[in-house]
Amino acid sequence: MPSITQRHDYEKAALDESAVDRDPFRQFQVWFDEATAAGISEPNAMTVATASPEGRPSARIVLMRRFDERGFVFFTNYDSRKGREIAANPFASLVFFWQSLERQVRVEGSIVRASDVESDEYFASRPTGSMLGAWVSNQSGVVADRAALEAELAVIQARFPEGEIPRPPYWGGYRIVPTSIEFWQGRRSRLHDRLVYRLTDDRSWRIDRLAP
Ligand SMILES: Cc1cc2nc3c(=O)[nH]c(=O)nc-3n(C[C@H](O)[C@H](O)[C@H](O)COP(=O)(O)O)c2cc1C
Repeated sequence: MPSITQRHDYEKAALDESAVDRDPFRQFQVWFDEATAAGISEPNAMTVATASPEGRPSARIVLMRRFDERGFVFFTNYDSRKGREIAANPFASLVFFWQSLERQVRVEGSIVRASDVESDEYFASRPTGSMLGAWVSNQSGVVADRAALEAELAVIQARFPEGEIPRPPYWGGYRIVPTSIEFWQGRRSRLHDRLVYRLTDDRSWRIDRLAP
């Protein structure tokens, strides 16, 4: 197999200590708004890595549904593979990649369940099809075939013929509570800018530049 030799020099922007917000969540908001304004499709898509108690990692993309100074929230099935890993090992890492802006954001921290109220509120805001989908999918379990999934959908549709569909007890939010957030801006000749915010013992954020 020949190596993949495409090379891209990054030159869109710079990231400077003097120009960033001292608060990583406000800095994230600035970059998220810029990713949205740049027309990036699903700028809220992020890779979430979890690990088994034996330290075996697994990663997948999910959609961030909210963020604030408490952390980054996504919704999923608590009995899924990621849910089981989080139950046994409540730490996670997130990565956003905004290619056209030549930017990456990495978040690391602990992970906790969102409150029932928060999960209920978000579930109620979803389209009916997604609500039913949450009931149908035994996420990460083996399914005999597509027909089995469709048959289960018909059963669920008959169970909730009209009106409100409740949130399944095994479905809800997770919040990654960061201890570190790194902002990466691609630069020329691989001399990229990396600024990492790390939570200190006195609960303030220290900013360091990392070698690219
Ligand atoms: C763009 C995109 C968005 C996704 N969003 C979610 C999501 O918000 N929640 C979710 O549970 N799975 C989402 N998925 C599916 C996950 O990548 C994954 O297949 C699923 O959560 C099962 O993962 P697990 O077996 O590791 O638990 C998304 C996939 C893609 C490609």
